[in-house]
Amino acid sequence: MKRLPPYLFTVVDNLKREVRSKGVDVIDFSMGNPDLDPPPHAIKALREALTFPGIHRYSKSDLEIEKNFRKTIAQWYYEKFHVDLDPDTEVVPCIGSKEGIAHLALAFMNNDDLALIPSPAYPVHFNGIIMAGGILYNIPLKEETHYLPDLFSLPKETTRLSKLLMLSYPHNPTTATCDLSFYEKVIHWSRDKQIIIASDLAYSDFVFRGKRAYSILEVKDAIKHSIEFHTFSKSYSMPGWRIGFAVGNRDVLASLAKTKSYCDFGIFRAIQYAATKTLTGPQGYVKKIVEIYRKRIDLFVDGLNRIGWPTKKPDATFYVWAKIPLRFDEHSSMAFTELLLRETGICVSPGTGFGEYGEGYVRFALVVPDDRIKEALGRLQIFLVNGGSNRKSNSKYQKVAKRVSRIKVR
Ligand SMILES: Cc1ncc(COP(=O)(O)O)c(C=O)c1O
Repeated sequence: MKRLPPYLFTVVDNLKREVRSKGVDVIDFSMGNPDLDPPPHAIKALREALTFPGIHRYSKSDLEIEKNFRKTIAQWYYEKFHVDLDPDTEVVPCIGSKEGIAHLALAFMNNDDLALIPSPAYPVHFNGIIMAGGILYNIPLKEETHYLPDLFSLPKETTRLSKLLMLSYPHNPTTATCDLSFYEKVIHWSRDKQIIIASDLAYSDFVFRGKRAYSILEVKDAIKHSIEFHTFSKSYSMPGWRIGFAVGNRDVLASLAKTKSYCDFGIFRAIQYAATKTLTGPQGYVKKIVEIYRKRIDLFVDGLNRIGWPTKKPDATFYVWAKIPLRFDEHSSMAFTELLLRETGICVSPGTGFGEYGEGYVRFALVVPDDRIKEALGRLQIFLVNGGSNRKSNSKYQKVAKRVSRIKVR
């Protein structure tokens, strides 16, 4: 537990609670927690399933609902990516992809094994490794190289000792995308190595302006050592349902399933049934919500640029990865987050919450409606001119943030 950094999102949550308790109207851009309703056909199916005989019992992989769910995932995969999967051995449902990613680390990382984790990253990518007792090797993702890791420049010995490489495009928090040739290079790089590649494809539907999201499994032979995670949390606005899945290499997945079997009893059967109906029902919903997020991005980023916070428009996800404005650049991302929240009531995620290479940035999650985005822009405009005059330094939150940045990884 001592090796685990404080979860910066919990720190931000505490700060938010403190500010709210003083009567401040907080506009919350901090968590990627979708605010839209799930598709009506998903809710209808969940209601229906609640009265099925045996539905409230433990889930078992050889029951009809469970088998159907895996079959539907395999069909969905084929339709979306033209990748053939065996529903019984190459698909493992998870209690949200975060659970699957954490347990993948537990399944494979023995004490002092190395994992190659690009930084910044979605926190479970690195915290999962630390919890499992592994050693992190952070690969810096930089704007000038389009936030893609340079695997070929890694020290030979590091690569030799590495058991796991984590990738995730479209990328949270930087919003970067990759094309298929990137995955081809990764698979080429890995061909003579004993390394598992895990791709986290949470934002496969959140791509705009002619971009496409790719599955690493589209590359020939990738399935020999890759798996991929998906979630219902974003595309179907079902974050609280806790449902996702992993697909890909059957041996890797067998170990993941074995690890999970010691920790959980699978997913509530009614949710598996409703998730099946979610994938087989009308898909117009996904297009509709992606368009809502795209419009929010336009509204927000155009607004930021207008009020003097130059920011690039993302091609993917529903995040905005914004460089801390020059006027505040002596602030750490956590200090800036605290200042912004105290002075404007706007809550963001500090870049260092996503790892050491997130410093210098904050992330806005556009999970608030248009009128609140406009309100936030108004507050930000005033802040950019006057902000920082009642600056508080070295608060208890800053001390926690300093502890995070002191935690050493290799
Ligand atoms: C990249 C990425 N992976 C996984 C998750 C977690 O998804 P789930 O709700 O399926 O656990 C998130 C949530 O924000 C995410 O951004």
